[in-house]
Amino acid sequence: MNKQPVLVTNSDQLDEQLALLRAGQGRLGLVPTMGALHDGHLSLVRRSLEECQATVVTIFVNPAQFNNDKDREDYPQDLDRDLGLLAQAGVDLIFAPPQSDIYPDGFADWVEPPRVADRWEGEQRPGHFRGVCTVVRKLFQLIPAEIAYFGEKDYQQSIVIKHLIDQMAIPIELMICPIVREQDGLAMSTRNAYLSSSDRQQASAIWECLQSAGAMVLEGESSSPVIIKQLTEELQAACFTQFDYVAIVDPQTLDPQERIEGPVRLLVAARLGTTRLIDNCLLSPGERETVAP
Ligand code: PAJ
Repeated sequence: MNKQPVLVTNSDQLDEQLALLRAGQGRLGLVPTMGALHDGHLSLVRRSLEECQATVVTIFVNPAQFNNDKDREDYPQDLDRDLGLLAQAGVDLIFAPPQSDIYPDGFADWVEPPRVADRWEGEQRPGHFRGVCTVVRKLFQLIPAEIAYFGEKDYQQSIVIKHLIDQMAIPIELMICPIVREQDGLAMSTRNAYLSSSDRQQASAIWECLQSAGAMVLEGESSSPVIIKQLTEELQAACFTQFDYVAIVDPQTLDPQERIEGPVRLLVAARLGTTRLIDNCLLSPGERETVAP
């Protein structure tokens, strides 16, 4: 489909455009992004297009969720390319606001994240989830969609948003969509562009290690420390360094689990060269992760 989406770059125009969009239409789907779109993002867009009568995609590189200025400055941006991809996909409206629309002068309405944000990414990247929760809450307020689409790639983020919606009784349904991977299994991510070509070749080891952890569980291994040790050694052998965390957690509370007696989530954050990669998968004694690249 190639329909020209309406581009809104200012929240003052947003209400009017949303009203036009909603006139006579059913469900509105919202896909929040920071741009530099890849097929992972587009899978959320396609899901929304399938399930909703109108789809809004937001593009906003949220300064509040970066831990340092360098990371923020280096973050890739290419609005023209993104607009082309979204037009091709057939979205209805793109909201790409300036910083001053989201964080006006004197902004102080920070949203404190739910407890489930405390560990893992929250511990490694102080303030990150406060920034994510604040911008997502604001986007939910600006765009009263029925369904919001998030990716399992950022597993903890999707659970944080789930708790945020529940705790603040935000009237929106959350749809958490599977990870889209490259041919060799590497989870698609904007940050993959930072990998050197030799690191890029090593990077798929993370997916191979997640799969071998899944196989260990299927074969009856139920001790989390045993699996974590093996996985860490395998990743080290594949040149991964600085393990921020390798954890086996309850899928909802994200509390660490010593034993695997039902479905759990395996979360990994490690560095390859200077690039920090995160990935995750389901581990279940009776089930293999079904989403293959
Ligand atoms: P961003 O990293 O641009 O990701 C936007 C959405 O795309 C998130 O829900 C993310 O989980 C999803 N996504 C990224 N890679 C994916 C993949 N390989 N497969 C499936 N989904 C994938 O996440 C953010 O932006 C921001 O934190 C945001 C929610 C927009 C708030 O600023």
